[in-house]
Amino acid sequence: MLSGLLAFLYPISAPGSVRLTALFGRIGIMREAKRPSIPQYFNNAGRNQNKNQAHRPGLLQPAPAQARLRRWWTMAAFTMLPEDSPPRPLGILHLEDCALDHELVRRALHQSGERCELERVETLEEFGQRVQAPNFDVILADYRLPGFTALDAWQILQRQAEQPPFILLSGAIGEPAAVAAIKLGISDYLAKDDLSRLAQIIRRAMELHSIRRAKEQADLELARSERRLADFAEHLQTTIEQERAAIAREIHDDIGGALAAVRFDLSWLGRHSTDPATQGHISAATEMLQHALEASQRIMMNLRPAILDQGLVAAVQWLAAGFAKRTGIATTVHAGPQTAAWSKAVQLVAYRTAQEALTNIAKYAACDQVTIDLSDTEQVLTLEVKDNGRGIAPAELSKPEAFGIRGLHERAKTVGGWLDVSTHRNRGTSIILSVPLSPAPSDTQQGADWHDPRYSL
Ligand SMILES: Nc1ncnc2c1ncn2[C@@H]1O[C@H](COP(=O)(O)OP(=O)(O)OP(=O)(O)O)[C@@H](O)[C@H]1O
Ligand SMILES: [Mg+2]
Repeated sequence: MLSGLLAFLYPISAPGSVRLTALFGRIGIMREAKRPSIPQYFNNAGRNQNKNQAHRPGLLQPAPAQARLRRWWTMAAFTMLPEDSPPRPLGILHLEDCALDHELVRRALHQSGERCELERVETLEEFGQRVQAPNFDVILADYRLPGFTALDAWQILQRQAEQPPFILLSGAIGEPAAVAAIKLGISDYLAKDDLSRLAQIIRRAMELHSIRRAKEQADLELARSERRLADFAEHLQTTIEQERAAIAREIHDDIGGALAAVRFDLSWLGRHSTDPATQGHISAATEMLQHALEASQRIMMNLRPAILDQGLVAAVQWLAAGFAKRTGIATTVHAGPQTAAWSKAVQLVAYRTAQEALTNIAKYAACDQVTIDLSDTEQVLTLEVKDNGRGIAPAELSKPEAFGIRGLHERAKTVGGWLDVSTHRNRGTSIILSVPLSPAPSDTQQGADWHDPRYSL
């Protein structure tokens, strides 16, 4: 395998080494003696395309050199054959009811130096059967046949996993109909009285086809990788929530338990000591202890918002009150009547959104007013946190080290929602979370509810 690859990397024109027959060798488009090297071919193809663009806009843009090279590597890697492998003849399925026309096509291809194997089918049934076992490189189809058209054949082809390029070869169709057919996805059109161009049209259709296949493959890979990223983000958020819940439990059980015991001992000492100096130390220690208890309560609340047990509205009001107290910024919460049951996952996402938005406002907004709106009209939960501060510059949102708002986008997706950021220079910022209240994916797939350990509060 490795030695094959090394041989491949060796200059392809080197005699005795591996020869790349790539697409052209495979389809036998050019005579052996005239066949250019693969890079030459693509350069020529680019030039030819340029010429053809004049009367065929949008069919194929000239590829930049890098993209051509990349395509060449991909195609060559798939079609590398040893030096002495004869190029396989081009397999053509010809849908044609007229035997004479079929013969003319055979001759035209022969005259152009093609090595091809042509097979003719006449009826839609025959065509349907043949394309089920696809061993053709290209399909040529007359447009109008007895009782059906090439478009019916095209529809049948659409049901197959393997779809070779499909070229209309017809005399009974005008240019507008041909263009409409190509818009449907049919590879190309050639008039029957122009058979001298058939080889060229086939070559171009096959090249386009392979480019399209490569693009489809790349799109598929991209979609897969986006899905993986979204899954990973969801997993990360769930793990973070679990970790937070675990740390909060430890603070509650260990630190909370120890502080309660210290308070018990301090009050015992207070009751049994009459020494004023000792009493002074005890009351200072009790004050310190109270401070530590409040701090641990606050940390627990931030880590694990138990207030959510009382509902999202209560939790947001609690957040807002704490924020206003800490920052001195006037904060108002408007909460419409709750018309639907909000899942625990959705409430947690809304709570974390409000929390991050308020943290950002405290850090950056330089504002004196904050409004939080919470509503669930028309089966969409909407949470808006609005300030009247300095606004966010576009560059700030793409800071590489900033993860807050980016994380909120990902969080919203985990419950089937989305986040909008609306901001104007010196006219404030709105962070808006919207979540359709039909069962969210994470709820239905993973059964999240109030008792789901992932969200235990
Ligand atoms: N309400 C706001 N008003 C003004 N600027 C804001 C506001 N919210 C965010 N920003 C700007 O947008 C940037 C990105 O915010 P984001 O929450 O994504 O990251 P961060 O707060 O900087 O870091 P992190 O949240 O990861 O700790 C901030 O650095 C800040 O410059
Ligand atoms: Mg932030």
